[in-house]
Amino acid sequence: ELVAFFQPKCLAGQRVLITAGPTFEAIDPVRGITNLSSGKMGFAIARAAQEAGAEVTLVAGPVHLPTPRHVTRIDVQSALQLHDAVLPLAAGHDVFVATAAVADWRPADCGAQKIKKDGSGRAPSVAMTENPDILAEVARLPARPYCVGFAAESHDLAKHAREKRQRKNVPLIVGNIGPSTFGRDDNTLLLVDEQGERKLPSASKLHLARALVAEIATRLGAAKP
Ligand code: CTP
Repeated sequence: ELVAFFQPKCLAGQRVLITAGPTFEAIDPVRGITNLSSGKMGFAIARAAQEAGAEVTLVAGPVHLPTPRHVTRIDVQSALQLHDAVLPLAAGHDVFVATAAVADWRPADCGAQKIKKDGSGRAPSVAMTENPDILAEVARLPARPYCVGFAAESHDLAKHAREKRQRKNVPLIVGNIGPSTFGRDDNTLLLVDEQGERKLPSASKLHLARALVAEIATRLGAAKP
């Protein structure tokens, strides 16, 4: 509470919706497909936004992290559940930060029974189908919040982040190198907006989250009449 008290209240009165962590796409009742996102960056942003005076809702995939103080948390597993939790809430928020590493595809059918080996030595083939793009859908809402996307890349960060910003039609994309940061307590961010690019050099995720919250607050001020 003391640490929070001394943070600048740059998001006072704002409602902020955040997604965080990986999703888990079930293949059958005992297995599934997921990714290496730990949720730490999204949880740090939730904490930083709350400490900056915002009312924060955090929709989290399966992660092992404590809920930041005074943050409302909704737990989900799959991309479809994340989608169904976020879409009805989005228009009631001023800012949407999509930090979650949403699985791009899910198994087309999740059977009720465990898939068994048939003794042939052949692996079963799993048909996949594409998940909805939650960030792009929120950005298409008539009463859309100020949308901040993340780009988790392995290479050509600036190029992919710029393309993603345009493809998803959002004002701000935050690029990071997934394999260098997943599970770690530090990160390096590249902010990409209409004006260009700015690097936030390597620091703890909480430090970067506070810097990002300040950047969002500045842009929000500029975006509002
Ligand atoms: N995102 C989303 N819904 C999806 C996929 C991604 O909301 N189905 C969001 C992520 O939370 C992130 C941004 O879109 O804010 C970019 O996610 P990323 O995984 O980096 O990119 P993709 O759109 O999945 O593109 P690609 O996998 O080709 O890099």
